[in-house]
Amino acid sequence: MAKKSAAPTLGIGISEKDRAAIAAGLSKLLAETYTLYLTTHNFHWNVTGPMFNSLHAMFMAQYTELWNAVDPIAERIRSLGHAAPGSYAQFAKLSGLPDAPAEPPKAMKMVELLMLGHEAIARTARSIFPLLDKAGDEPSADLLTQRLTVHEQTAWMLRSLLEE
Ligand SMILES: [Fe+2]
Repeated sequence: MAKKSAAPTLGIGISEKDRAAIAAGLSKLLAETYTLYLTTHNFHWNVTGPMFNSLHAMFMAQYTELWNAVDPIAERIRSLGHAAPGSYAQFAKLSGLPDAPAEPPKAMKMVELLMLGHEAIARTARSIFPLLDKAGDEPSADLLTQRLTVHEQTAWMLRSLLEE
């Protein structure tokens, strides 16, 4: 069968097998980041109670950060020669995070759900590192280091709100 593209094989020095495995890991990270973005924006809209002002504003800062994060993750997948997932059906299949509940939870339950989401994404990001080391994929490692820093810091801030 004829090759689909006239372009030569991608020659950045990472094997096809490693590029595919890294792209799969980054696709899961992208799906989970997008899912947590949407949940955080949902909670920004629907939060109620005496902490409304501070949580409404905090959720806005968090969903803006998550929204800005999806683009570099998707574009790293493209740099590795793979298509970036970008549909609700694909994200639902790839993401290990649950969708936001249909009924808005109480404010502190929202905080807990978001904290669990940030921790879950930190675990996803961390699980990709051994593969990156083996393949010598520093740009993906750099991106994941930045994402891990944000997710762990945000999880800490949310967890602090839950403690007496
Ligand atoms: Fe708003």
